[in-house]
Amino acid sequence: MQITKAIFPVAGLGTRFLPATKAQPKEMLPVVDKPLIQYAVEEAYAAGIREMIFVTGRHKRPIEDHFDTAFELEYELEQAGKLELLRTVQSIKPDDMECVFVRQPKSLGLGHAVLCGERLVRGEPFAVLLADDLMVGEPPVLQQMVEQFAALKSSILAVQEVPAEHTRRYGIVAGNTVSERLVNVQRIVEKPAPDAAPSRLGVAGRYILTPAVFDQIRAQPRGVGGEIQLTDGIAGLLASERVYAYCYEGKRYDCGSKEGFLEANVELALRHPQIGPGFAAYLRTLTPQIAD
Ligand code: UTP
Repeated sequence: MQITKAIFPVAGLGTRFLPATKAQPKEMLPVVDKPLIQYAVEEAYAAGIREMIFVTGRHKRPIEDHFDTAFELEYELEQAGKLELLRTVQSIKPDDMECVFVRQPKSLGLGHAVLCGERLVRGEPFAVLLADDLMVGEPPVLQQMVEQFAALKSSILAVQEVPAEHTRRYGIVAGNTVSERLVNVQRIVEKPAPDAAPSRLGVAGRYILTPAVFDQIRAQPRGVGGEIQLTDGIAGLLASERVYAYCYEGKRYDCGSKEGFLEANVELALRHPQIGPGFAAYLRTLTPQIAD
């Protein structure tokens, strides 16, 4: 079965990025020249997904506008002969891509946000992408997972090894090694202390889930921080279905934190075909200051 739908939970408050996120969603913060949400949508599109489901909240209008047609802007660019920019603007939403928006009335947690997309998923397996985790991989990380899903036909969580002192930031999984990159998950715990963590495999913001997860999310009491946690729903799924953890090939930038966001900007700027070389030269001029 093919994965055709992706849920993008974008209703969080983004408190770690205040004051930047007071009046704008963190998913619209740009890394070099594109907002975070666009990177995630492009990753889903590259994985063959065409139906993008955004779970939005207050202040999230700019996300809807970003994926909508901008008639006036396009007209102006065309009149001015700025055809390359016109193509850039039009390529944000290819014609065969559908965007659907559903509202999460209160920020009750990631599990609750995913639940808000249930009706739109229509009983199919689906992907979840957290745009504040910017993933760089070749092939793109979600495509790697879709290829795994074609063989496994079970829920798959993207994981990476995290430093012991960072286990409190992640859902941590443990289980039986199936192959170099695959683990059959036996346990998943949300944000454990280092000495309570069952492993150092931390879940990154990419998931492929079967629709059975919705009943499991509903069945869970409020978890860590009083929120309805996706991790707890996935833990419930383990009793009835296989769940795999997939160690993706690539790099993740935690753009929900200021440090990760700055790292993404520097590294992606260095790789940017137009500004990369000039930016590298600029950074080299700073090296003596950094050495101090
Ligand atoms: P985070 O844990 O990063 O929370 O959510 P947050 O509110 O966005 O940011 P901080 O921690 O206050 O800085 C992970 C993802 O889940 C979404 C967020 O938008 C983000 O993409 N989310 C979280 C929701 O959509 N709804 C929620 O109730 C909570």
